[in-house]
Amino acid sequence: MSDNAEKRLTPHDILSVHAPIMCWPINSENGDPRKETSFNRFWILQTPTAIVGFSVICPHAGCFVSGWNVERRLLVCPCHGSAYDVDHNGQVMDGPAPSPLPYVHIEEEEGFLRIASAISRPVGAHASRAD
Ligand code: FES
Repeated sequence: MSDNAEKRLTPHDILSVHAPIMCWPINSENGDPRKETSFNRFWILQTPTAIVGFSVICPHAGCFVSGWNVERRLLVCPCHGSAYDVDHNGQVMDGPAPSPLPYVHIEEEEGFLRIASAISRPVGAHASRAD
């Protein structure tokens, strides 16, 4: 995983801040950030149990989930107000979103962060509630 400054992220980068960090997966073949589509982009942060990466694409209508409610620990979409609980697998807490925010588990490998699971659900806008 790398941030927008294209620095490979370590667990310390996540633990030293109290807000999500925007990042991209790295192409394992050439080491470049995979910036070809925003569907690859994640907010990563420490939850009470793990480091998790959440898609930046809102499941409601595909807007960029850009807000952070620090008191409630919610990622918030500015388009229609959907809010996702980062400590409970991206569960929808407010707004019209039809499904939780997709996420991946993040692990440390040789000092750096890497994606350690498949995405929890397809990324992008969904027409109806799936759960
Ligand atoms: S697109 Fe995010 S709440 Fe509608």
